[in-house]
Amino acid sequence: MPSPENPKIPSQNEAAFPPPLAKELAPRLLSWYRDNARALPWRESTDPYRVWVSEIMLQQTTVEVVRPYYARFLKAFPTVESLAAAEESAVLKLWEGLGYYTRARNMLRAAQVISEKHSGRFPETYEEIRALPGIGDYTAGAIASICFNLPRAAVDGNVLRVFSRLLAQNYLSAAEKRRLAAQISAIYPQDACGDFTQSLMELGALVCTPSSPKCGLCPVRWLCRAFLEGCVNEYPARKGAAAKREEALTVLILTREEDIALRRRAPQGLLGGLWELPNRAGHLIEPEAVAFTESLGARPAELLKSGRASHVFSHVRWDILWYHIACADTEDAPLEGGALWVSPKARREGHSLPSAFTKLLKQAGIPS
Ligand code: ADE
Repeated sequence: MPSPENPKIPSQNEAAFPPPLAKELAPRLLSWYRDNARALPWRESTDPYRVWVSEIMLQQTTVEVVRPYYARFLKAFPTVESLAAAEESAVLKLWEGLGYYTRARNMLRAAQVISEKHSGRFPETYEEIRALPGIGDYTAGAIASICFNLPRAAVDGNVLRVFSRLLAQNYLSAAEKRRLAAQISAIYPQDACGDFTQSLMELGALVCTPSSPKCGLCPVRWLCRAFLEGCVNEYPARKGAAAKREEALTVLILTREEDIALRRRAPQGLLGGLWELPNRAGHLIEPEAVAFTESLGARPAELLKSGRASHVFSHVRWDILWYHIACADTEDAPLEGGALWVSPKARREGHSLPSAFTKLLKQAGIPS
């Protein structure tokens, strides 16, 4: 929509989209969306708090994984004020298994900012939303358009792919992506900004998929340059997948009756501040693992099981060797290096153990 007040949104005249696309895309997609939209829990209301929670959870995570997390989170924290008042450990507990825990910490900080700076009311302008911790261009665009009917594009990987094909063009640099977002913002339909945002997401998720796109079902294939030129699979160009760094790790599952030894990770860096099973870089042979156990102040009694696993993060892959060692009772002698014996109840109630570690407990047959 033209916006003389806001120089960041180009007027229609400056929009670089070819006229048929600029004119036809929104009406055709909206009509398709109204017939084909999935019924998703976060589409039941335009409450910005609920939409925000969903958009943060959906980053790097699929719709099916998010559903139960979303329901549990909103049950525990139904309003922005209830989140603002929460303990970080309670928020992280509800996030356990979703990964990228910085998202949860930023949500808590943003809720506190909304509570303190905006008197508990979710801000209603793009700029104020964008200024909240953990909210980037994509999330701000999604909330602004879905909740406040503002013509602001939300360009995630799905939407980028859709436009890369529609225009048979690649958008690689941050500047190109920003320009694309401005061009999309300029073709937003006046009274259906939220539906237009969601229709683009839906097309990317259901039809214009990364592999085997269903062009035969696409409502905008006759506007799509890549379809018309027979080169849909060439867009978007695949960047050479960034090689993941491999890290070998030995992890100890130390049990004392039903207790497990846990310790806190350093506050900064990967999984910063979360609980972990004691671990050390490299692959330790069995006597070394036993010596490591003793160095923590535990008394190894029996090696019960060992195994291998891997865990993939965005930039690192852990190649894990684990040992399950039963330890003798040490009559509450404290462990070294900040490790603690943690009971099943305490694990359920407050010690967020990331899935890189819970999966090892599962392999060892221990309830996490
Ligand atoms: N992925 C990101 N945001 C989404 C939304 N609102 N609906 C479905 N999938 C999404």
